[in-house]
Amino acid sequence: MTIGQSFVRSNWLENMNLSEQINNNETMVPTTRRCKVWAIGGGKGGVGKSLVTANTSICLALMGYKVVTVDLDLGGANMHTCLGVPIPEKTLSDYISKKVTDIKELLVQTPIKNLQIISGAQDELGIANLKQMHKNKILAKLGELDADYVLLDLGAGTTYNTLDFFISADKGILIILPEPTSIENTYRFIKSVYHRRLKMIEDLLDIQPLINQAMNAKISTPNSTPVDLVKRIIQIDPEMGQKLQREISKFQPQIIMNQIRSQQDIDIGFSIQSVCKRYFGIKMNYAGYLDYDSAVWQSVKKRRPLLMEFPNSRLVNNFDRIVHKLLELD
Ligand SMILES: Nc1ncnc2c1ncn2[C@@H]1O[C@H](COP(=O)(O)OP(=O)(O)O)[C@@H](O)[C@H]1O
Ligand SMILES: [Mg+2]
Repeated sequence: MTIGQSFVRSNWLENMNLSEQINNNETMVPTTRRCKVWAIGGGKGGVGKSLVTANTSICLALMGYKVVTVDLDLGGANMHTCLGVPIPEKTLSDYISKKVTDIKELLVQTPIKNLQIISGAQDELGIANLKQMHKNKILAKLGELDADYVLLDLGAGTTYNTLDFFISADKGILIILPEPTSIENTYRFIKSVYHRRLKMIEDLLDIQPLINQAMNAKISTPNSTPVDLVKRIIQIDPEMGQKLQREISKFQPQIIMNQIRSQQDIDIGFSIQSVCKRYFGIKMNYAGYLDYDSAVWQSVKKRRPLLMEFPNSRLVNNFDRIVHKLLELD
């Protein structure tokens, strides 16, 4: 059975309540958003963010959802190649520089039905440092697109652009390789997101003095974690502390382990999940894993999406399971 057939048979479309919106972050998420935004990130380059974004987009499109894939790897955009589209004439650069006034003009149809792409900046490196105002506008406009799902392929690293797009999405999905460098970068990324989000919550609830007070109390317990900090805040001001905890608990990133070769590799995802729970007090959802598969580079070489080039590969089954899991948690 092909992936398209298996998805159609699974009846997911009828069970989905597309009008239900989950907002992770009231401060940045536009209230008029109608489509769900999933951001795919990870601290490191080359971990498979674009692979996951492209093939998850294709899966959703094959299921009958209207999907827009947005290349937000600003300065290093290549999603068009992953989806078999030539370099688009108009990119986000044109929108930011106001050459294009309506973001819909950037939409390019891919060879796959229901799937459109908005390409990132090819030329101007300056665009990699987007101003907050521009970011908010892009997010607001993307949320209003005529689509069910908008998938953002983020760049590597922990720049504010990347963190903010990750935080503001309805779902933030982290791609991790079972390698020490990738795991290290993942923790760095989560820590950066946590701090950025804490700062936003601080402003939202106006609790800077309370946090400072709790931070100063840290001196007596040098090994304290963010979880301990929240506990101390609850002790000082139970009502505010609870509010803070509720806000923090809204942040529930998904993780995907990529290039798996053994059960041990798969288990790394569970370890990361439990460390993040213990240390940051955040619930990570393990959306699944992707096997290491030479079909990936073969499809990359052919400039054809993996799902279209190798519909019977192991990875296609992996994607099938992951997309179902992600939709289940929607
Ligand atoms: N599951 C996998 N199996 C084999 N190779 C993979 C797999 N995932 C990614 N790769 C390889 O890693 C490279 C980087 O993937 P890519 O999606 O471009 O990463 P990123 O967008 O995070 O920089 C791909 O060109 C591909 O060759
Ligand atoms: Mg990429």
